[in-house]
Amino acid sequence: MADFQAILLEKSDAGVSAAVTTLDQDRLPAGDVLVRVLYSTLNYKDGLVLKGQGGLVRNYPHVPGIDLVGIVEDGGGSAFAKGDRVVCTGFRVGEVWWGGYATMARLKSAWLVKAPEALSDIQTMAIGTAGFTAMQCVLALEAHGIKPGDGEVLVTGAGGGVGSVAVAVLAKLGYDVTAGSGRAALEGYFKDLGAQRLIGREELTELGKRPLQSERFAGAIDTVGGDILSGLLTAMKYRGAVAACGLAGGAGLKTTVIPFIIRGVTLAGIDSVMAPQSERQTVWSRLASDLPLAKLDAATSIVGLEAAIGLADAILAGSVRGRTVIDVNA
Ligand SMILES: NC(=O)c1ccc[n+]([C@@H]2O[C@H](COP(=O)([O-])OP(=O)(O)OC[C@H]3O[C@@H](n4cnc5c(N)ncnc54)[C@H](OP(=O)(O)O)[C@@H]3O)[C@@H](O)[C@H]2O)c1
Repeated sequence: MADFQAILLEKSDAGVSAAVTTLDQDRLPAGDVLVRVLYSTLNYKDGLVLKGQGGLVRNYPHVPGIDLVGIVEDGGGSAFAKGDRVVCTGFRVGEVWWGGYATMARLKSAWLVKAPEALSDIQTMAIGTAGFTAMQCVLALEAHGIKPGDGEVLVTGAGGGVGSVAVAVLAKLGYDVTAGSGRAALEGYFKDLGAQRLIGREELTELGKRPLQSERFAGAIDTVGGDILSGLLTAMKYRGAVAACGLAGGAGLKTTVIPFIIRGVTLAGIDSVMAPQSERQTVWSRLASDLPLAKLDAATSIVGLEAAIGLADAILAGSVRGRTVIDVNA
């Protein structure tokens, strides 16, 4: 069988190591659809996988990459035909299944959706799991009745992948967006994405010192968790909603029930990995219509497979800005 290129993770007593390697296609896992991968992307979870953290990978050697866009080489009798352009996010691809940091992947057809025609391959991966999750969060706020005009909507971890896309989408939809970030130097970047103002991490953390603060945020998208989520819950407006998707600042949550029972605040949990197909179609179609593509392009960097390995520490340290697309053929 033909060879393909991949980042291969191997585990030894010294830990997990990563290297770009040439592999035979017969090493790909079983699955009905063979995909020629064009691009993947770098998410926080990819950083964890590349560094062997978080207990996400069960078996080594392993090919990481939780997202991919590519062309079907062999549909294997599924609804997909050779030449179809497909996208895969979640379903634990790149964690328990070999993923997109490779020029070929074999996947289950149930995990694939047709790539949106309105988005280029690079834009599709600039969105990736991070952008997909950001849109799920926006949909959750809408489902809880939070409308443009209701007041400030906070996005925490705004400089990261989920945060950047969330700011851009909310601003395009007409929301009054506040970027929550530990990086004051990114103020110009947040304004370009459409944020009206910046609030620092310390200020958000301080809010959590009392069970209730003055009502400020009509809605919030939280990618950080921990003390930041505890803090913002206290400053939600009456009947406000928070879409919580991340733990970049910690998995813990210390709070009281006061925001829930006095202000009727909703805390909505967001998971992208096992999202059902019907929701996936909605999310991609809303991304195609509501994400300003020029802003996405401006927030996107492109690197090759080799360079992706070196970015794992940076994304875990919270120092990557916006979205990083991996050109697996570079
Ligand atoms: N639920 C799901 O299905 C799902 C899907 C995708 C992602 N996620 C989660 O969402 C989070 C964000 O993912 P991402 O891909 O956007 O990651 P990312 O690009 O690394 O962004 C995370 C951002 O969080 C902020 N941050 C990092 N460390 C922090 C700390 N110690 N305290 C406070 N803020 C910190 C930084 O933003 P600032 O510098 O601007 O403060 C950073 O840019 C991750 O926890 C990820 O696992 C969940």
